[in-house]
Amino acid sequence: MSELPALYGGVTNRRVRPSDLQRAKERGERWAMLTSYDMLTAGIFESAGMPVLLVGDSAGNNVLGYPTTVPVTVDELLPMVRAVVRSTSRPLVVADLPFGSYQASPEQALATAVRFLKEGGAHAVKLEGGARVAPQIELLVSAGAPVMGHVGLTPQSELVMGLRVQGRGDAADALLADALEVQAAGAFAVVLEAVPAQLAERVTKELDIPTIGIGAGAGCDAQVLVWTDMAGLTPGAPLTFVKRYADLRGILIAATQEYVDDVREGRFPTAEHSFD
Ligand code: KIV
Repeated sequence: MSELPALYGGVTNRRVRPSDLQRAKERGERWAMLTSYDMLTAGIFESAGMPVLLVGDSAGNNVLGYPTTVPVTVDELLPMVRAVVRSTSRPLVVADLPFGSYQASPEQALATAVRFLKEGGAHAVKLEGGARVAPQIELLVSAGAPVMGHVGLTPQSELVMGLRVQGRGDAADALLADALEVQAAGAFAVVLEAVPAQLAERVTKELDIPTIGIGAGAGCDAQVLVWTDMAGLTPGAPLTFVKRYADLRGILIAATQEYVDDVREGRFPTAEHSFD
């Protein structure tokens, strides 16, 4: 049993660290990760006990109005990382390295990671890919940057791989090999996205580091969701692997309609909302 307090319910006045997540795996404690892109949600998620926040490049299609994550830039993500770090004191804040900011070489990856750690204040970075980014992970970790990997469906490659479940049939061994390479390169955790549940469970057993599933079943050490999906702000039917815990979109539409009607009908503002 670890001498560190449990991620949930433990008394701590410091940030969660990668080593806390490792110990959580060792004692079988599951944990949740959520995306956050701004001050208000980061504070709310911290209050709710979220140990890890990801400033994901999913900001592209959830905040910035792009159709995919591909166009997102470092300069667009940096202010979001700063906001999430500044408005929290406990969660580990992971910054996603956007498409084009690390694939060219380990040196490019290091330069980008340094910006997120120094200018953004992030505590770790995440990048997508298996064996092909192992040299990047190695250099980052040796330079002192904690790295979270991401294998399976990697949305930054959607123009090549589409948005399909990965690792089915014969592709299972290659996916496991990728996850093992990410671990061997020094990553402290790895996201498994859109992977059959049985394979994700196998990967989780084979790896010493925590696996974080999204569309990867219940056998992972941790789970991650995009917060706008989790809270029902995203329009349309939720993706199969998403559980909607609230209907924020419905609540906001109703509140906004009431405000519009109140102004039109002269019910707002009243004396209560006015200065003498
Ligand atoms: O950018 C993101 O939100 C992600 C998660 C889906 C893991 O990479």
